[in-house]
Amino acid sequence: MKNAFIRTTALLPICALFLNSCSGSNTNTNTNNTTNNSTANTETLSVIPIGIAVAQTSNVALLGQEQVAGAKIAEKYFNDQGGINGTPIKLVFQDTAGDEAGTINAFQTLINRDKVVGIVGPTLSQQAFSADPIAERSKIPVLGPSNTAKGIPEIGDYIARVSAPVSVVAPNSIKAALKLNPNIKKVAVFYAQNDAFSKSETEIFQQTVKEQGLELVTVQKFQTSDTDFQSQATNATNLKPDLVIISGLAADGGNLVRQLRELGYKGLIVGGNGLNTSNILPVCKALCDGVLIAQAYSPEHPGEINAAFRKAYLDKFKKEPPQFSAQAFAAVQVYVEALKSLDQKSKVNKLQIPGLRTELNKQILAGKYNTPLGEIGFTPIGEVIQKDFYVAQIKIEKDGSQGKFTFLK
Ligand code: ALA
Repeated sequence: MKNAFIRTTALLPICALFLNSCSGSNTNTNTNNTTNNSTANTETLSVIPIGIAVAQTSNVALLGQEQVAGAKIAEKYFNDQGGINGTPIKLVFQDTAGDEAGTINAFQTLINRDKVVGIVGPTLSQQAFSADPIAERSKIPVLGPSNTAKGIPEIGDYIARVSAPVSVVAPNSIKAALKLNPNIKKVAVFYAQNDAFSKSETEIFQQTVKEQGLELVTVQKFQTSDTDFQSQATNATNLKPDLVIISGLAADGGNLVRQLRELGYKGLIVGGNGLNTSNILPVCKALCDGVLIAQAYSPEHPGEINAAFRKAYLDKFKKEPPQFSAQAFAAVQVYVEALKSLDQKSKVNKLQIPGLRTELNKQILAGKYNTPLGEIGFTPIGEVIQKDFYVAQIKIEKDGSQGKFTFLK
């Protein structure tokens, strides 16, 4: 764990509170004509198109908005540095929304119409299991920026991720909870049974509970579309747990935290990776206080690239950068640096798209990247290799107006 610090967020009401209320947040980032100049494969590309397929609408946009922010910062940062040895990159955004159908559609558009060299996305593992096989069949590289379920890189040769898996990240938060309260004995676990990542994460949480010698008193299931958790929360609180662990997404997770507290639960709460956004703060407000969430990024990570990313994010959003933004930045960075290395061997803007995608995929897996997440690399199947992990705790100001992610030592 690194030094304690805070990232502060005003509890502004956002589209978090109600299902499907984020529609309209789809900014005009879709680019229809960016890559027309790439369709004629013999022509020289004036920009290198990289696809960003994340959730810009639906409740999943609570995570996806942060990814758009990180990717855009990366686009400006690397183009200011000269792009791919003089040729700029151009991010082509396609909104996946929150489901599988939208993701498949976004991937197909990026691959067939926009002719991108590779894709960053999607937001959810649930979406990746449906859409990544399409990219695999088309032989186009995919870098998952936030897919943490078991089995993502195994989808295929062209699928890698910069987001460390649940097996590496999730146990840290339970260990942090035990450090804060060594008397924890009884644990209640909740998970969203309609979400691949949540099912994968809860397995790791439940395994860690047992390994730590704790008693798993109940496992409660819900859906990511649920807003009422009275029955599951009552079932759990009746068993008087000392720790509650939640694997879900931001809106459902935030509502579950709120309802547990309203029912009088006073013990520690661990939230999983799907709750790792300050966008849950408008959902559970002051009742978010104390929630522990493991982190694959710290804004205090040393080094020039993180300092530049952090400053750009702070300047734009007036708060510390979150993990989802840092991972999206890192994914764009991996493409840029792999393209630069490839370009030194043969000019990438002159290569035909299919060959470029295949060579780029090999180059991605071969490289090492000094990112805001720290130095990362990939195993031969595309699993990220990353060293540093952290745990943060949500702290709410006394007047309830501000929420902070305080990193634990
Ligand atoms: N980490 C979450 C997932 O994999 C967002 O779906």
